[in-house]
Amino acid sequence: MIVVIDGPAGSGKSSTARAVAHELNIQYLDSGALYRAVTYLFLKSEQSLPKFFESLYSAQLTFKFDNEFQVILNGEVITEAIRDPMVSLHVSGIAAIAKVREFINAIMKKAVQHDVYIADGRDLGTAVFPNAKCKFFMIADLETRAKRRFLELKNLKKDVSYSSVLKSIKNRDKSDYNRKISPLKKTKDSLLINTTNLTKRACFLKIK
Ligand code: CDP
Repeated sequence: MIVVIDGPAGSGKSSTARAVAHELNIQYLDSGALYRAVTYLFLKSEQSLPKFFESLYSAQLTFKFDNEFQVILNGEVITEAIRDPMVSLHVSGIAAIAKVREFINAIMKKAVQHDVYIADGRDLGTAVFPNAKCKFFMIADLETRAKRRFLELKNLKKDVSYSSVLKSIKNRDKSDYNRKISPLKKTKDSLLINTTNLTKRACFLKIK
């Protein structure tokens, strides 16, 4: 069984999904983290697409939910590295490539077969798990989302300015909503939650 939450960056999907997974003792799948992991691989491939695809098809990409969502690429734990602003800068471009989406979707579909999951992303309700029984779509004002992300990055001791975070989220929104393959879109059967004025606890209670 799978519950999905889609929505733009900073709308509160990940923190809510994580809290629900903890409370209900189910698995959490952060699909964005997998796109970030392959983007990390792209950066390691000196941003050369041929080199990137060569390393992608031989890559061992695994994850586990162990208090946090941990991502392991070829034996290296990259959970923190994938939050780097360079990864954020390139991730939407990499996520717009059909072959990349096929690669990640196959990993996700295989993983969720044998357990109960709550997953968050952009196209889970539309393209990856269209038959999910419970679908949510979270949104929030751009400035609110940028402020949340800025504080998260500051907590991770990243050297970023608010204006650069705002710009990065704006660019990612544009690419995520408008790309040809699996754009970010609310399905008719998903419940819309505007989290602009909601605390983390209130978001959690809406879904639990
Ligand atoms: O956490 P944040 O909201 O910043 O984004 P993320 O969930 O880490 O996802 C990073 C990027 O991966 C998004 O901006 C999308 O471009 C892409 N993504 C996607 O295309 N499809 C998904 N199911 C999840 C993420």
